[in-house]
Amino acid sequence: MTCTGVGLGKLCFVLSVALGAFLLLLLPLPRLQAPWGVWAHPPPGPPPTCEQPPSAPRPQEGGVAQPLQDVLQRLLGAPAAHPRPPERLEPWDIFIAVKTTKKYHKSRLELLFRTWISRAQQQTFIFTDGEDPELRLRAGDHIVNTNCSAMHTRQALCCKMSVEYDKFIESGRKWFCHVDDDNYVNSKGLLQLLSGFSPSQDVYVGRPSLDHPIEAADRAQGSGTASTVKFWFATGGAGFCISRGLALKMSPWASLGNFISTAEKVRLPDDCTIGYIIEGLLQVKLLHSTLFHSHLENLQRLPADTLLSQITLSYGGPENRRNVVSVGGAFSLQQDPTRFKSIHCLLYPDTTWCPLKRPL
Ligand SMILES: *[C@@H]1O[C@H](CO)[C@@H](O)[C@H](O)[C@H]1NC(C)=O
Repeated sequence: MTCTGVGLGKLCFVLSVALGAFLLLLLPLPRLQAPWGVWAHPPPGPPPTCEQPPSAPRPQEGGVAQPLQDVLQRLLGAPAAHPRPPERLEPWDIFIAVKTTKKYHKSRLELLFRTWISRAQQQTFIFTDGEDPELRLRAGDHIVNTNCSAMHTRQALCCKMSVEYDKFIESGRKWFCHVDDDNYVNSKGLLQLLSGFSPSQDVYVGRPSLDHPIEAADRAQGSGTASTVKFWFATGGAGFCISRGLALKMSPWASLGNFISTAEKVRLPDDCTIGYIIEGLLQVKLLHSTLFHSHLENLQRLPADTLLSQITLSYGGPENRRNVVSVGGAFSLQQDPTRFKSIHCLLYPDTTWCPLKRPL
């Protein structure tokens, strides 16, 4: 709108102010009509698809939306509620991928379903390599048949990681966490840990399996000159997490099958390849955490008074049956050889199958 002529000046001013005020009131109205809670929490429910972005728009740190909302709320006389932290993390925001194989559906998954997964159903997705009608009935679309080979080869493991990555991206969730089928996940502890970061930051957190970075020939960069790259990686057997912001940056080397070709180029296992992409290529540092644990550690040595604040635990395989955490409780080693049931009952004493607290 152009205003010409001295006589029209005043009228023009009044009109622009009126128009401005009108627009200011009109634009944010649909948002204000939504109850606070609905806006701040995505509704629980089936994981959304690609076509339908899952997370409701939320106030971003430093964004314009939040101050404007606050001003309008004050102007409109809404009660000054306790302000919510701008990005409160909800359980749904975390995508926990459990890698397994058909052979272990009975012997390993059963225990996980009875214990930690029962408290983290909406977050947890099982990545396996064979159809299992019983499992499908139990967990529906939270079971993903990767169609990868059931062999324990580098290629088969990378194939599964590749599917995990793609499913996470598709889910729209804020955090990708990978664990193995011999891990106990303390989902409350995990939520607490990840709440300390923003998912738009570059975050890669887990336990290195070595006490030094590994060195690999830098073939994926595509340069003719031979060079090596040094990087840390989080061991897959202890579990690790990656923020959505960082996962999106990994996409050229990780999405839609690219993960498999990246792993082929550097000839590294799945968890190493993740480290290679993040530390080696994207120059983002692994946050070393002592709260993640794999069966490669001496689990007996974990102090008993810290067990409930660990984020992942594990147990020794058939070759090392005695490598389990030292936790007392109502179950004997025969009844609970992995100690996962005992840990679970200490974390969630209200579980139906947990023994009642003994009277004093
Ligand atoms: C595996 O194969 C089945 C049957 O062809 C298909 O429906 C499913 O989408 C495939 N899974 C993945 C992750 O591609």
